[in-house]
Formats: sequence, C-alpha cells, structure tokens
Amino acid sequence: MTTQQKPILPERVFDFDALVHEDRVHRSLYTDPAIFDLEMTRIFGAVWVYLAHESQVPQPNDFVRARLGRRPLIVVRDSNGVLRALYNRCTHRGATVCRQDRGSAKAFQCPYHGWTYLNTGKLSGVPWPEGYSCDFSRPEFNLMQVPRVESYRGLIFATLNADAPGLIDYLGPVRRPLDEWLDRHPGGALEVREANRLKFNGNWKLLYDNSADGYHVVFSHRSLLMMENRFQEGDGKGMSYYKDSPDTGPVKLYSFPNAHHFKDKRDAIPKRPGALWAIEGLHPGMEHYEAALRRDFPDRADAFLDLASSEPVNINVFPNLHILGNHIQVSEPLSVTETATTWYGTAVVDPDGELGDALGPVNALRMRTQEQFPTFGEVDDLANFEQIQAGLAAEEDAWIYMHRGLGLPERYSAAGDGTTIGPATDEVFMRDYMRVYRRLMQTEPNIAPTRDVS
Ligand code: FES
Ligand SMILES: [Fe+2]
Repeated sequence: MTTQQKPILPERVFDFDALVHEDRVHRSLYTDPAIFDLEMTRIFGAVWVYLAHESQVPQPNDFVRARLGRRPLIVVRDSNGVLRALYNRCTHRGATVCRQDRGSAKAFQCPYHGWTYLNTGKLSGVPWPEGYSCDFSRPEFNLMQVPRVESYRGLIFATLNADAPGLIDYLGPVRRPLDEWLDRHPGGALEVREANRLKFNGNWKLLYDNSADGYHVVFSHRSLLMMENRFQEGDGKGMSYYKDSPDTGPVKLYSFPNAHHFKDKRDAIPKRPGALWAIEGLHPGMEHYEAALRRDFPDRADAFLDLASSEPVNINVFPNLHILGNHIQVSEPLSVTETATTWYGTAVVDPDGELGDALGPVNALRMRTQEQFPTFGEVDDLANFEQIQAGLAAEEDAWIYMHRGLGLPERYSAAGDGTTIGPATDEVFMRDYMRVYRRLMQTEPNIAPTRDVS
C-alpha cells in the first residue's frame, strides 16, 4: 500500500525565483523555519539521500539508526536479507520503537505499550488485543517505510519519491570519482568503523556550500597549515597547493548534474609510490607504524602507506554525503539552525589476503587519520558555519553572494555529460547546486511511503 501525503495545514508560499538568483541567494534560505520545513519534503523527500553503509548491516537482522531529513529511520537487513528503511515511529501513538544506535534484532518492541513489529515492518503483536475491535493484520498498522532503498557499491541510499530517477541516473558522473575512491584498493570493499560525531549551530546548507570551496582554505585553516608547515620541509607541505595562485594550479573543481560536485587535488601529488604518505598530516603513532611496515615489507611499504593516507579528494553527493580523505561524512539537518555531521572512519577489507600482515597497520593508520583533518580542520569549518549563521541574523543585509567566476567563461571547460570543470577557488559549484535547489523547491515530489512488507 502506498500513501500519497498531502499537507493538511496550508503552507506559506515562497517565490524561489526571487530568493535564488544566478549570483546570490536570500538569507531566509538559512534562517526561515518554514523554508526548512519545506526542504524536508521538497529536498529530502524528493532525491536519493545517503543513509548508511552496507558494512553496518552485513548480516540478516542487523540494523543501524539513521535519518532521512528529520525522519527517524531504522536501516535494517531483514530476516530474509532485504535492505529496508523503516520509520522509527510506532504506528500506535508515535514513539520511537528502536532506541539503540545499532544491533541485531528480529523484531522491535515499542517501549511505550509493547506493540511489536517484525524487522520487515509488519506488526506482529499487540498486548491484550481483545480490547480492540479493529483488524490488526491490515497494512495500516505496519511501520511506515521508505519505498525505494538501493545500494551503490555498499553506499545505501533511499528515496521517498516514487517519481525520482533511478539511483545510477541520479548519481550520474559523480560515480567516476566515487569508483576511483573505492578502487584505491583492488575490489574496493570497505568497512565503516567508528565515527567522529559533531554538531553545529547552523543551517545544513552551510556545510554543502563549503564542501567544494577552495577559496577559504588558506584563511580558515591557517592554524592547521602552520602546524603542518612546522613539521614538513620544502614544497610538499599539507594543502600547500592552495598557496600563491591556486586557480592556475593542479587542483580542479568538477560541478556535476543533480547538484553533486568534486574537488580533485590528486594531480597536486607527484605520481610516485609514497608521495601521498609524504604529505600526510601528523598524527600520534604514525612513525611507529611506518617503521614497522618499512621493516616488514621493504618493497611494498610505500604502496601500503599510500593506501593508509588521506586521499586528496572532496566528493559531494547532494544533499548529505561527503567523501574526503579516508572518511565518509554524513550531514543531518536537525532544525533550521542545527546540523549534525558525522565522520565515519573506513577500513580496507582484504578477502584474498593480498595485504597479508600489513592489513592491521594499514587500517590502524586509516583510523588515526581521524586525528588529522577531521579533528584539526573540521572545527575551523564548523566555527565558520556558526559565525555565518550569526551574521545572517542581520535582517536588512539580505544577500549571500556566490558569483566568483561568474561572467568569466574562460575559467571553465565542459565535459559532454553535463559536467563543468573550473579552477580551485571557484563558486560555480554553488551556483549550479542552487539552481537544482530552486527547481526542487518549486516542485511537489510524489512522496509515497509504504507499509507493504512483501
Ligand atoms: S506508542 Fe508504541 S505501543 Fe504505544
Ligand atoms: Fe574547510
């Protein structure tokens, strides 16, 4: 059974042509709770949203909690192995039925009055049913669930929109950098490990606006760069490619269809084994692991160390997935001025034993990269987001500019697949994604959750 959700209360009407221009957007996109509410249906209800990684639910009955916009979900591999995204919302009076972040369960019992649901979402038991006159086998009493849940190479996405394109089409050309990131290790299998959980007092789009921004790096991350520079000799300093004239350097910005984008810093790294490790930021214990790998694997140590190093990419899949370094970063809007952002570490999986005894040290180092940018750099960005939110309290100063590069077509080249390629510090990605945002905010999606357990 599908249910078309119609708003019951009248919505305020917004003119998004007036709020989103080619060169600027209105502050209310970041400050108005009514626009935020609309985004939860017209953005997060309309497109494919990243929920979790398959390694978090490897076996039947495994589950992990997630959110689709504000909707609390249980991402579960049901007892038959089917991936589902169940609403974590009891059909009775609305309580969450699952209050554990992850685990394994064949059924979920609501802690309030004990209604129990199988991990397919089907209602399986109601205490003292003789007190009811209804037929509980009717689907309306099953947990609601997201109708379309799909995995792209382990990355689980879901959409509520019956009319959304297929996931492969939605991703489009951003699949190339995603594939390359996954295939750093042949086979590309990853496991998500523990996470660095952060929250900021700012709108969720501030994070997306910044996710391919090469303009801020040397200013906002100055202390991190200075720290790295104290430990590194010569030109190979961390993020040194943003110095001097970054727009004529090797860093490129890719703006893809459907509001995805990608900042590629890989060409700034010399093409030789060990070059990526050579610029890896300092983190405690790295010298010990490096020495052990060089001692035990003298011929392959550089390759192993490169596999442990932070890949110099920022891959951004609208609206909430960011892949950078060795991390999968997920953002979750909580309110118009609050956003959660979680950085999951990733470990290489080596089913054929190709890495041998190097697997442990490589994965330990990958986890330690959590102590580099995700710890020392992300806080700079979150401080900016909170300060933008504070600045946007000024009602009369209404516009946010994003016109760097506008009117300078010589800065761009185009790939045939709808991709625009620009220089490192350009804001073309922001203009492109805001154009998609405007179209989505002007369209009512065909939101069709289901209670079908088949
Ligand atoms: S709210 Fe869940 S059983 Fe009553
Ligand atoms: Fe940053």
